[in-house]
Amino acid sequence: MQKNPLKIAVLVSGSGSNLQVLIDKQLSQDLNIDIVGVISNRADAFALERAKKSGINTAVIDKDDNGKKYTRVGFEQKALDVLQAWQPDLVVLAGFMRILTPLFIDGVNDKLNVPMINLHPSLLPNYKGLDTHERVLKTGDKQHGCSVHLVTSELDAGQVLTQAVLDVAVGDTSDSLAQRVHTLEHQLLPFTIHLIEQNIFDLKNLDHAHQLMALPYRFYPN
Ligand code: GRF
Repeated sequence: MQKNPLKIAVLVSGSGSNLQVLIDKQLSQDLNIDIVGVISNRADAFALERAKKSGINTAVIDKDDNGKKYTRVGFEQKALDVLQAWQPDLVVLAGFMRILTPLFIDGVNDKLNVPMINLHPSLLPNYKGLDTHERVLKTGDKQHGCSVHLVTSELDAGQVLTQAVLDVAVGDTSDSLAQRVHTLEHQLLPFTIHLIEQNIFDLKNLDHAHQLMALPYRFYPN
């Protein structure tokens, strides 16, 4: 018997192509998920159009009633209120380009008591933060890729759950790498959410010796 879908809330800032993959997989029932809502810190994020087109709840937390940009704390308090109303089982940061403070991270932990994951365009722990593709090229790394990790109060430093890896090709530029990593992300994020939905990871007890998979789980798509 099919169990209840995993309720996910997605935080975005931009195009939302990763969100689109999740929407498509929900519709085709390739993933047993229910996207309960999408939060954007930018009113002009194309991800909002994608969500609305599919009838998914959206919350824009960009400017307040006086037209002033929300402060970091203001954004986080509002976002927590929205999440509490939506009651997701999992919070997913997919192209969410704002650094979160412990106010939000602890809030998700304490008030909602659900895990939060982030999609990052590098093989963590290498290249936390921005400009990952440029830095990979500058160092001359032979491999690059993306990671999904648990969000903790230290930037891009929570337990890495999964990674997808590619070989850096002669002639790769930061644009070509960005494009190739983006394509990998479209596979890695739904794959990871599937593993979570299937309880393959015990996210509440990651030190547990009986994890079904050694972490991080790495895959090497063709
Ligand atoms: C991805 O490259 C992700 O790694 C980065 O932002 C981008 C999001 O892409 N943090 P999209 O908005 O899902 O198209």
